[in-house]
Amino acid sequence: MKWNVERSLMWTATGAFLLFSIGAITTTVVPPLVDETIWSAGDHVLHTYTEQELRGIEIYKREGCVYCHTQQIRNLASDQRRYGWRLVQAPVSKSWEYVNQQQSFLGTKRSGPDLSRVGGKYSSEWHWSHFRDPRNMGEKFESPNGAFQSASIMPSFKYLSDQDIKDLTAYIQTLGRDINWRKDRNGKLLNDYEK
Ligand code: HEC
Repeated sequence: MKWNVERSLMWTATGAFLLFSIGAITTTVVPPLVDETIWSAGDHVLHTYTEQELRGIEIYKREGCVYCHTQQIRNLASDQRRYGWRLVQAPVSKSWEYVNQQQSFLGTKRSGPDLSRVGGKYSSEWHWSHFRDPRNMGEKFESPNGAFQSASIMPSFKYLSDQDIKDLTAYIQTLGRDINWRKDRNGKLLNDYEK
């Protein structure tokens, strides 16, 4: 009998389904079975979110911060340098850091800086002013008419209540704190995150 798979709708569909299943299983089911670090934090101690920080996560989600900010340092020299702190390079994001997150805000669009190592970078007062008026903070550039303009394109979140901004800031200050990586000029590890 001539083997003519393409002529039979049933065999083509079965073949396509089998090939798809092999691809799906080897990329989703097999990796966690052979590599435990994908789903377990191992010996790492993960931060347990407080009530306030959990409220902050809800605000982060609701306000769509993820549309402009990612939370993943890629294995790229540019990411590690840009999101580092005083010449200390930011550690690349590892899967265990996301293990106890109910929802992760990996994001895809990097209109703003990556936030996964931002905890401890600024004081909570800085975040307060920045959320209320981002254009009042950070970089300025000289426009062609000689006037200085603020570079930030982040929208103002002035409409949030004081409590909301505090909750959001509490969450932002947790980002990246599971890895103690910020060092002072003598190479001593800092652990001065604001609560
Ligand atoms: C329209 C895009 C956009 C949205 C939406 C947005 N941001 Fe930003 N964000 C930016 C840009 C651009 C910057 C860099 C300029 C600056 O510091 O304002 C920034 C900077 C920041 C910084 C400082 C990061 C650093 O390393 O200096 C933080 C923290 C931050 N955003 C948090 C948030 C949070 C939380 C939200 C949601 C409530 C949010 N952003 C929503 C664009 C955005």
